[in-house]
Amino acid sequence: EDLGIVAVGFSGGQGKPGVDAAPTALIESGLLDQLRDELGYNLHGHDAVHNYTDLVPAQDPPHRGMKNPRAVSAVTRKIADQVYAQAREGRLVLTLGGDHSVAIGTIAGSAKAIRERLGREIAVIWVDAHADINTPETSGSGNIHGMPVSFLTGLAREEKEEFFGWLKDEHRISVKKLVYIGLRDVDAGEKRILRENGIKAFSMFDIDKHGIGRVMEMALAHIGSDTPIHLSFDVDALDPMWAPSTGTPVRGGLTLREGDYICEVVHQTGSLIAVDLVEVNPRLAPENDIGAHETVRAGCSLVRCALGESLL
Ligand code: ARG
Ligand code: MN
Ligand code: MN
Ligand code: MN
Repeated sequence: EDLGIVAVGFSGGQGKPGVDAAPTALIESGLLDQLRDELGYNLHGHDAVHNYTDLVPAQDPPHRGMKNPRAVSAVTRKIADQVYAQAREGRLVLTLGGDHSVAIGTIAGSAKAIRERLGREIAVIWVDAHADINTPETSGSGNIHGMPVSFLTGLAREEKEEFFGWLKDEHRISVKKLVYIGLRDVDAGEKRILRENGIKAFSMFDIDKHGIGRVMEMALAHIGSDTPIHLSFDVDALDPMWAPSTGTPVRGGLTLREGDYICEVVHQTGSLIAVDLVEVNPRLAPENDIGAHETVRAGCSLVRCALGESLL
């Protein structure tokens, strides 16, 4: 099977340097070799990690409170083109971020390609401690990695090209086809947005109550069978015990097995069209680098599970 690789070392959606080093760290730990040699994929586009420093303007003052808005808009626009180009060929697409703002590009590119190729709307499974659905106005931080879902669903809009005005209906997803898993740190404004739009969300409470097996059944039932699925996995969905090296860790998260299980089940649907792995920050290394190594290892495991590695 063909697999398009989009590796983007981009950190402008939040304030901590280091998340830009993740794609190289994941690749150096052998992820792509494993996908090729053990899972048998034909890789495309894996020759370069893109940093897109040429797209980052010297001056990028806030707009509607958003930090680095021109840079994030330009870089995600480029990512959308890259993912679209891979998905248009009928390839499954793996994106290695970068902070979660990159999902503005990956999901926009997937949504457009699947509309063109299959005339279908995609579903998004967003696995995260956070909902990342702030609008520029509800955001307390101004960090765009906390806003991608609001731009992708059209809850946040902007006319001007240089501030995500390039996002058109063809790039957008429906709030009805969005499912969250793993939430535990949702801002007050985001809770209101989730409630008012009837967005399906399984928090850690739901996972404790029903177990991850039942939660995945309910999540997939909500999406409906035979719907193309884009899986966007923020490594901070995992408990910091498994993934300490990330910019906004929150205790009380998924075990590594629960994370792997989510990916395994999504793979088994046969409907997976794209996977993002984001927010690995190898520079934030508690316990002298062991943390970074463990987080990279956890990220590799999640990706392999989503791409078909099974225990037996
Ligand atoms: N809700 C917070 C914010 O909007 C945190 C977002 C964290 N997002 C992430 N992709 N790690 O700033
Ligand atoms: Mn590439
Ligand atoms: Mn998160
Ligand atoms: Mn996130």
